[in-house]
Amino acid sequence: MDFLVEPTDSLNGEVFIPGDKSISHRAIMCASLASGTSTLKGFLESEDCLATLKAFQEMGIESFKKGENLEIAGKGLYGLKKPSSKLNLGNSGTAMRLMSGVLVGQSFGSKLTGDSSLLKRPMNRIIEPLSEMGFYIKSVKQGTPPLEISKTTKVNSIDYKMPINSAQVKSCLMFAALYANDPSVIYEKVESRDHTEKMFKQFGVKVETTSSNLGNKIVVHPPRNIKPSNIEICSDFSSASFFILSGLISPNSHIVLRNIGINKTRTGLLEALQEMGGDIRVNAISNNYEPTADIEVKTSNLKAINLNQDLIPNLIDELPLLFVAASLAKGKTTINGIEELKHKESNRLDSMSKSLKEFGVDFIVKNEGIDIFGLDQSTTKSANKSAPFKEAKINSFGDHRIAMASVIASLRAQGTCRIIDCKNISTSFPNFLGICKKLGMKIRSV
Ligand code: S3P
Repeated sequence: MDFLVEPTDSLNGEVFIPGDKSISHRAIMCASLASGTSTLKGFLESEDCLATLKAFQEMGIESFKKGENLEIAGKGLYGLKKPSSKLNLGNSGTAMRLMSGVLVGQSFGSKLTGDSSLLKRPMNRIIEPLSEMGFYIKSVKQGTPPLEISKTTKVNSIDYKMPINSAQVKSCLMFAALYANDPSVIYEKVESRDHTEKMFKQFGVKVETTSSNLGNKIVVHPPRNIKPSNIEICSDFSSASFFILSGLISPNSHIVLRNIGINKTRTGLLEALQEMGGDIRVNAISNNYEPTADIEVKTSNLKAINLNQDLIPNLIDELPLLFVAASLAKGKTTINGIEELKHKESNRLDSMSKSLKEFGVDFIVKNEGIDIFGLDQSTTKSANKSAPFKEAKINSFGDHRIAMASVIASLRAQGTCRIIDCKNISTSFPNFLGICKKLGMKIRSV
């Protein structure tokens, strides 16, 4: 399925964005391990999160839809049943890495697999520390899925300094730490998304976090059991960010996004775009366990920045959009320290470079970074200020975020753009097309 996107002049309206993907995965996992029934409100019914739900159903967990809510009858930390076949986690790296942390602690072995993109993603980052704890987990191929997990009897807690910044690795180890005899300690250099820490606390698991200029320290105390909880899942900031940028770069636009998750470990893009001169207001902030707010965006002239590398873990999924913002800004934007971008649903440094090239953007890819030349500096981009991008045919490489970022860039192109292979958008954002249309975009699927 491809999308055809016509340049659009003005985007206006108020929109509600579906639930947060990272929080939805964690909510299913914690609810399944709780001793009793939990209620999830705002669960994201995207392919990735449904893959996690299905995997737990295959291990004996029952769930019920009650109106807007999803009830999950947890079976306790040790109550899952051996699945009858391999667990297929589709496209989801989060599901595979976090569930590995749960499965290593079970009294049965299991096998995890996924689609062709997931089968290419690096898993040694979890295999090494889990093995250090004494768990049995191995990759069938060199460091990539499928993964095989065997039953373990003796497990140690871990004291681990993470060599890369990854919330998925941190969270995998936090789940595995539930099954150790003593508290585990995990250190990260820059704070990555802390949804597992917050979710564990909601389910009564004792977690301590301290941060200093050396980084962030997380201590997980293994509980005897996990108490069920009622969880409200806020709207996904990463999904909202496509519309935040669309409002900034489209003439005469004014968009309001309601009840968006604004956990500071996720909103690096807001900081970057505000530094670039984006007119973005954060109103009506709530103090829920995951804070939320209404985000209001108006058309803005953007200027280039030199991105602070400490922001990278907090905008890792928004980098494709930041590339688009930089292409439309005045000046040269420099973004360094983005090696991790190569290990996402596609090699995003590569796929976004190809997308920018098709749009006629000038840039230089460096070892672990990119310099992007903005509107005033480009030799190839059109002099037409309101439509600087070329009419393009973009390959999404089957990656939802490349597809959606390219849709947003197409708004500023000289003619109708075709974004190839957009099916994967449903892994994170089932109603993306509907919201685009509601705001006034001329977009259709073919
Ligand atoms: C996620 C963490 C991030 C992010 C992914 C979701 C999570 O990955 O890219 O989309 O839910 O923990 P890394 O932590 O591996 O960078």
